[in-house]
Formats: sequence, C-alpha cells, structure tokens
Amino acid sequence: MEKLRSNEVFKPGAFPEYTYISRVSSELNFTYEFRLKQALNTSGYLTSIIGPSKTGKTVLCEKVIGIDNIVSLTGSDFKNSNNFWEVIAKKVGLSLEGEYIKTQSLTEQTTVDNVKTKNVSTREKYISNKDTIIEYFKNESLVLVLDDFHYAPEELQFDIAYQLKDAIRKEFKAIVISLPHRADDAIRKNADLSGRLNLINIEPWKEEELKEIAITGFGKLGVKVLDDFALKIAVESLTSPQLMQSICLNLSLILSIDESGASNIELNEVKLHESYRFTTINLPYKEVVNKLKEGPSTRGQKRKTYELIDGKCLDVYSILLKAIAINPPMISISLDEVKNRVDKLIKDNGDKLDRNKLKSSLQKLQDIIITSESIYQVFEWKDNQIYILDPLFLFYLRWGVS
Ligand SMILES: Nc1ncnc2c1ncn2[C@@H]1O[C@H](COP(=O)(O)OP(=O)(O)OP(=O)(O)O)[C@@H](O)[C@H]1O
Ligand SMILES: [Mg+2]
Repeated sequence: MEKLRSNEVFKPGAFPEYTYISRVSSELNFTYEFRLKQALNTSGYLTSIIGPSKTGKTVLCEKVIGIDNIVSLTGSDFKNSNNFWEVIAKKVGLSLEGEYIKTQSLTEQTTVDNVKTKNVSTREKYISNKDTIIEYFKNESLVLVLDDFHYAPEELQFDIAYQLKDAIRKEFKAIVISLPHRADDAIRKNADLSGRLNLINIEPWKEEELKEIAITGFGKLGVKVLDDFALKIAVESLTSPQLMQSICLNLSLILSIDESGASNIELNEVKLHESYRFTTINLPYKEVVNKLKEGPSTRGQKRKTYELIDGKCLDVYSILLKAIAINPPMISISLDEVKNRVDKLIKDNGDKLDRNKLKSSLQKLQDIIITSESIYQVFEWKDNQIYILDPLFLFYLRWGVS
C-alpha cells in the first residue's frame, strides 16, 4: 500500500476521507449518518439540519449522499431571482426555455368503418418547469442541499418552503441547512410543514470525539499518539473539528512526518505549541483583537492602567481579553470566573478592578461587537456570561502573536 501523506489524511477545509469521525447524537443515540439516511428515505418529509458553523454539516451530507449526488445551493443564490425552480434549473444545467416536439395522434373518422390515424407534430416552447426538474433529480439520484437558508431574502423564504413541500411529496429529496439562532422560521415554524420535517440538530463536538481525529489520523501515518496528547489538542481545538484537523496537519508538517518517516517521529509539547502558533498565522482576527483592545473612544483621554504580575501595565479592555485567553480555554465564562481570572492577572498590591467595572466594560465591548461586521461577532456578553461564538477567535487569542 502506498504511504499516505499528511495532507491527504488531515483535511481542515475539505472532506476528510481518512479521518472522518462518525458521531452519535445524544438526542437519539443514533449516529448522525444513520439519522440523515433515514430522513432522506422518508418521502414527503423535508430534512432540516441545524448546527453551529464548522461543525461538519456539509461533510455529513457529503458522507451520506456522496459528493457527486449533491446539488448544492445557498440562500444567497436566491438574491437575484425570485423563481425557485429557475435557480435550480440553472444550477443543474437544464435549459430554462427550450423546444420539444410534441407528437399528437389525431384520429379522424371519415366513414363509419374507416378510421384513419395521422400523426401531427407540433413544435412547442416550454419553460423547464418544476416537474421536469423533479424528474431529473429522481432519475439522477440527486439531492438538493440548500445551505445557509437564512441568507435567502426573507420575502422568498416562505415561497421556497412551499415549493419544497410540494416537491417533496413527489419524491424530490431536499435538505435545508441553517445556523442556530438564525431565522429559519419559514422551515421549522411553518405550520404547512409541521409533521413533515425531519429535524437534525448537530451538537458541538466533545473532547472525546475530537481526540479521535488525531488518533485515527496519526495512526494512518504510522505514528502512535498517546491519549493524553490527543486530549491536549482536543482541549485546544475548542469544539472545532476543523481546528483539530488544522493543528494535526501543521504538527505533521513541523515534524516533517512525510519526509522523515513515522519511526523517527517523537511527538512532544514544544512542537505542539509551535504548531498552535503556526495555525494562527492564517486566522483573520488581528483587526478584531485590535479593535476590542482599543475599546470605546476615549476622546483623546488616557485610560487608567493596571500593573500586572508579568510587569506590564494594561487598561481594562486589554486585561479582559487576556482574562478570556488564559488557561483553561473555556467556551463560556461567567462573571465570577472573569473576576477570578482578572484578580490573578493583576499585581497583588496594585489597584483592583471591581465587578461593576468589569461588567460595564464587557457591555461596552458587546456594544462594539454588535455594531461591527460579521467577522467581529466573536463573543456575546449576555446574562453576566461571556459566550464564545467563534472558537477560532479564542484559539487566536491564546496563541496568536499580537
Ligand atoms: N465527521 C467529521 N470527521 C472529521 N472531521 C470533520 C468532520 N466533520 C467536519 N470535519 C472537519 O471540519 C471541517 C468543516 O466541516 P464542514 O464544512 O462540514 O462544516 P459546516 O458545518 O458545513 O461549516 P459551515 O457552517 O461553514 O457551512 C471539515 O472540512 C473537516 O476538516
Ligand atoms: Mg457547510
């Protein structure tokens, strides 16, 4: 057998053929693959998949349906057309308007026993309609995967849902994918579709599941990974299988696994940390971190700074970001925990930051975040709790140089 290369094994941006991990959904104790297969086999039902970004929604569809059988559209494909079927026809390359020969048998009766049949051909224009497309999908075993449904224009969402409902009764197979907390009421709260929906909620990845990516992948490369070592990477990956794949790939590169051969490889923490830092290089959060550190405008006034145990003097916003970044990495942090972390960072005999100051500063960061573009939506401050919305941001905060 030919030796696999690390970039064939670890695939942070594509279908991971060699490191695909099958997960069991805690709701139902079946694998996601089983549930999706089941869902697609129920005619008359529309499948709705909801899950946080980068949790493997697309990869799941590819695994179950096969890349060649997926017709993939996104909500934003409907921005320039209000005709659902027209958009699909274009995508699969069916001509929208065509001609076909229609042969009609006309029966003429001239006398009582003399029946003459003649064939009359007429040319007719047709618009490739719904039925043609549905037939085509059935014949070619295609499944429509409509990603980012929330990006479809709101006034179209109900019409899309209606078209899908109707098509699905005719054995058309379709999956609608959305992010949690994004408007997909046209699907999940649509009375028309109630009782006709297969709901699949993708849960965040657990450390045990993330570990499998490293263990399986390095195993394929002939390198044995200890459980503890895999766990370290899993903790750092913060629920993201993509981050796990990236870190493993970069670790393989840094160790030159492909060149030096598996037997000479020694996995160690120094190299691991190096690969964490390397992984942050392509993450686009430099501006985000700078903007948050700057905080709200001070109109030229200098902000109060606090002396930290490492000797640095930082203002409240930089200290808050540092507090979010330190060990252990957490995806949600309570105000008490924030206060704890900040106290640990600030020098004992120096000025302290009290809870109210921390709360109001976090609120100001929240105000900056919600009034900024989507790349800035990295955490949410709500009910005295920080919720990290973007695991890659926290990873950058921990390991990026800024
Ligand atoms: N089951 C899996 N096993 C191993 N790795 C996975 C799995 N699912 C996802 N990944 C990794 O995560 C990456 C992102 O997955 P995918 O693109 O499917 O996420 P998504 O939920 O569709 O993201 P988006 O919200 O951006 O559409 C994959 O390219 C792969 O590296
Ligand atoms: Mg996707």
